Amino acid sequence: MAESKSPYSGGPLKTFGRRGGRPLSGRQRVLMDEVLPKLRVPIAEGSTLDPRTLFEEASEIWLEIGFGGGEHVSGQAEANPSVGILASEVFFEGIAKLLGQVADSKLENVRIWPEDAREMVDGLAENSIDRAFILFPDPWPKARHQKRRIIQPDFLDALASVMKPGARVRFATDVRSYADEALERFLAHPAYTWAARSAGDWRIAPPDHIETRYQMKRLGDIEPVYYDFTVSHQS
Ligand SMILES: C[S@@+](CC[C@H](N)C(=O)[O-])C[C@H]1O[C@@H](n2cnc3c(N)ncnc32)[C@H](O)[C@@H]1O
Repeated sequence: MAESKSPYSGGPLKTFGRRGGRPLSGRQRVLMDEVLPKLRVPIAEGSTLDPRTLFEEASEIWLEIGFGGGEHVSGQAEANPSVGILASEVFFEGIAKLLGQVADSKLENVRIWPEDAREMVDGLAENSIDRAFILFPDPWPKARHQKRRIIQPDFLDALASVMKPGARVRFATDVRSYADEALERFLAHPAYTWAARSAGDWRIAPPDHIETRYQMKRLGDIEPVYYDFTVSHQS
């Protein structure tokens, strides 16, 4: 399993803080112990997963990275029942929340990777994903922590390789320095083309966007931006 390296220190690059928070409720513990193993994306170290084997009838396969409380994943899964969604989060409470939504809404098109999303991306077959969402990722606003942001050149390489040609990636943030940095990195990468044609395309929430819990906290220093990119594989 490849581990992303800090471009500065050469050591492991941590993109998240803690994994545990408040103790889980009884129901959440049951969901984690009994339901998560059934919904876990079955990637084993050193192996490659073709996600179509999980969703044989799916029209498309989507990915969400750092889903937080899971409301975007469950909302999209409900609105798009023909799509299979692979969703990754490391925060236990968030994973338990999504499991609760999956159970309550009887969603059959969600699988969860409860570990570092970069390990999941590294374990997926090339050209297997139609759409990816990275919504309000940890902003790491302090300058000395910004190297922990998930949008790094090596991650963009790995993500591009699992996306199909013509696939779409949505990145959203409400932190100006992250918006600028991410846009620069996506545009510097030959696989990503910014789909925006006018300011309205990135300043206004796209019609299919579902507001997230973190977004609603309005912790950032700008109004949210939504950058949609199209992936191509010719360099
Ligand atoms: C700021 S929160 C936003 C959550 C959600 N997307 C939203 O908008 O409400 C970022 C989330 O990404 C998760 N995260 C950070 N790095 C990650 C990684 N490498 N793999 C999976 N999840 C990660 C964190 O645990 C955190 O819950």
